[in-house]
Amino acid sequence: MKHKIAVLSGDGIGPEVMEQALKVLDKISKLYNFEYEIKEALIGGCAIDKFGTPFPDTTKEICLNSDAVLLGSIGGPKWDNLPPEKKPEIGGLLALRKMLKLYANIRPVILFNELKYISPLKLNNNSKIDLVTVRELASGIYFGQPKLLNDDKAYDTMVYQKKEIEKIARIAFELARQRNKKVISVDKANVLYSSMLWRKTVAEVSQDYPDIEVSNMYVDNAAMQLILNPLQFDVILTSNLFGDILSDESAAIAGSLGMLPSASLSDDKNLPHLFEPAGGSAPDIAGKNIANPIAQILSVALLCFYSLDQKDAYKSIFNAVSQVIKEGFRTKDIYSDSFEGLRLVSTKEMGKEIINRLS
Ligand code: IPM
Ligand code: MN
Repeated sequence: MKHKIAVLSGDGIGPEVMEQALKVLDKISKLYNFEYEIKEALIGGCAIDKFGTPFPDTTKEICLNSDAVLLGSIGGPKWDNLPPEKKPEIGGLLALRKMLKLYANIRPVILFNELKYISPLKLNNNSKIDLVTVRELASGIYFGQPKLLNDDKAYDTMVYQKKEIEKIARIAFELARQRNKKVISVDKANVLYSSMLWRKTVAEVSQDYPDIEVSNMYVDNAAMQLILNPLQFDVILTSNLFGDILSDESAAIAGSLGMLPSASLSDDKNLPHLFEPAGGSAPDIAGKNIANPIAQILSVALLCFYSLDQKDAYKSIFNAVSQVIKEGFRTKDIYSDSFEGLRLVSTKEMGKEIINRLS
């Protein structure tokens, strides 16, 4: 069977990190004997420039007919002043997530030992940050109605249905079962009504998982706890907006946002999952061949894991990335000249070194 993969490189650094990720996919498919075909399509700012819309019908069609979608990044200052629904983020990325019913966004953060010094935190030698954010992706304040924007007034609405909370909570508990069996649910239940329902529902779902340790944290405290003691986290279960914020924070703790991949899953068997780096399009460094391709490459690893059922391919990519880090290859975001034996490399060189270590 030939897997159909939709490739949407998008804007900013998207195309250059995608180039490396596709080379990894090519090599890993040969090593692990699976076949795939890619269909490229435009989304976001580049689609606005070419077709006048951030999410053209042809792109929708290609995504709906694929087994998995691999996305680069979306947006940039050039399109910032468009009306909300025409913006690359809302009209492109959010519309794509909605169309594919991607309610579960998994963002695993791993602190490679050799990157400890790059973390803004003072971490001692035995600390091993290994956490994953499970972010609800299809609802909450991102999508809640009504919304309004005029010159004197604007609002968004944070809405959660009980069944939406149940679904994402189950994903988190199941994932915790494969890991260290600990879920911390993050909300703002001291103030927000939607969080009150969130907390109550998570408690109910947790009854089905007596083997999992569960606790709750207010989001302001969670932001602080991530800095004070990141080791206490295993699975962070949270809503769309809080997950957006906390996953950036946790990526930075582990070294760089350029290292953070993500998998967005739906439970509709007829729809593809989506894989994308958690970072943005980084317009300031786009086109310079200095961006870190690792988040995009690890997104390919997650694609192998979740959509192609190629668990060994996933491990191989992950190991190759660990290996290059261990050997001292560093893109600018994870480089520091106060350490010896490190080699500053470009986007392309980093890709090449990783590919050379796939086995
Ligand atoms: C992310 C991004 C997106 C989000 C933006 C680009 C719409 O920040 O994937 O984390 O807010 O979800
Ligand atoms: Mn984000």
